[in-house]
Amino acid sequence: MQVSLPTRNAVANGADPLISLVGVSKRFPNGTLALDNVDLNIPRGQLLSLIGLSGSGKSTLMRHLNGLHRPTAGKVTVMGVEVSSASNRQLRGVRRNIGFVFQQFGLVGRATCLENVLTGALGRLSGPRYGVWSYPKKLRSEAFDHLERVGLVNQAYQRADTLSGGQMQRVAIARSLMQQPQIMLADEPVASLDPESSAQVLDLLLRVAVEEQMTVIVTLHQVELALGWATRIVGLRDGRVVLDRDATTLKQEDAMEVYQRVDKNLAQPSNIAQPSNIATEPAPLALREK
Ligand SMILES: Nc1ncnc2c1ncn2[C@@H]1O[C@H](COP(=O)(O)OP(=O)(O)OP(=O)(O)O)[C@@H](O)[C@H]1O
Ligand SMILES: [Mg+2]
Repeated sequence: MQVSLPTRNAVANGADPLISLVGVSKRFPNGTLALDNVDLNIPRGQLLSLIGLSGSGKSTLMRHLNGLHRPTAGKVTVMGVEVSSASNRQLRGVRRNIGFVFQQFGLVGRATCLENVLTGALGRLSGPRYGVWSYPKKLRSEAFDHLERVGLVNQAYQRADTLSGGQMQRVAIARSLMQQPQIMLADEPVASLDPESSAQVLDLLLRVAVEEQMTVIVTLHQVELALGWATRIVGLRDGRVVLDRDATTLKQEDAMEVYQRVDKNLAQPSNIAQPSNIATEPAPLALREK
């Protein structure tokens, strides 16, 4: 793997809003109000971390960006397409530009790393593919390049279910890169990983985001990691944006405010301030470069 790590500030924060949410609310059929009047503009190249208690609406917000959920009210626009009212064809176009990595990795365990990475190119091809040799040579070589980038070229022919969690997530990132996405959504990408693997995966995400000038949205339960990684922190509470700040100047105690619950009847903080899964690990060293 290449040694020098670009810093997070190397990503340009353009004024062009690649993603915009205007007055977005989502009420599920069971009555849950998961998003409540969310306004958010995300420019190209931004590294944004979404934080908030379990159930605050982070995954729901992400699922609105690739059209997996449609809002009950408001408008979601991604790369100029109004996702909230897009046709299936338009949606496919948007989804081709969005890579997605998540906690469970989503790899085919019985397939090799190379095959898993190649499946990331399916949206660029017509028709199904069976096995490595059914992909064009150019794509096979691209897949090798991405495996090299994530430091797993020696594992190309290893079954994915024999990898460590950190390695699996790196394969999942390589697979997303095959899509040549402009946007990467990472929903708790390090939630199942130990601190060292978490740092490696976040370092890698940062590196590819800078190299590819991608816009990345990551949900993280560890505030320290979010502060060390992102350029912007958005905090959700009960589906509302309660914090929206530049990560480089935000103090940890201010970020922790997102987790304070206020009992609306008593109008004072209740005792359920912090979930046990808000870890207090230091941010990986490489991420602290500014
Ligand atoms: N398909 C659904 N049907 C009904 N309610 C849902 C659905 N999806 C999510 N919810 C509810 O919406 C709220 C927000 O859920 P969401 O998964 O977005 O939270 P989250 O912030 O991602 O939480 P976590 O940190 O645990 O992943 C929760 O109350 C959840 O139960
Ligand atoms: Mg979630």
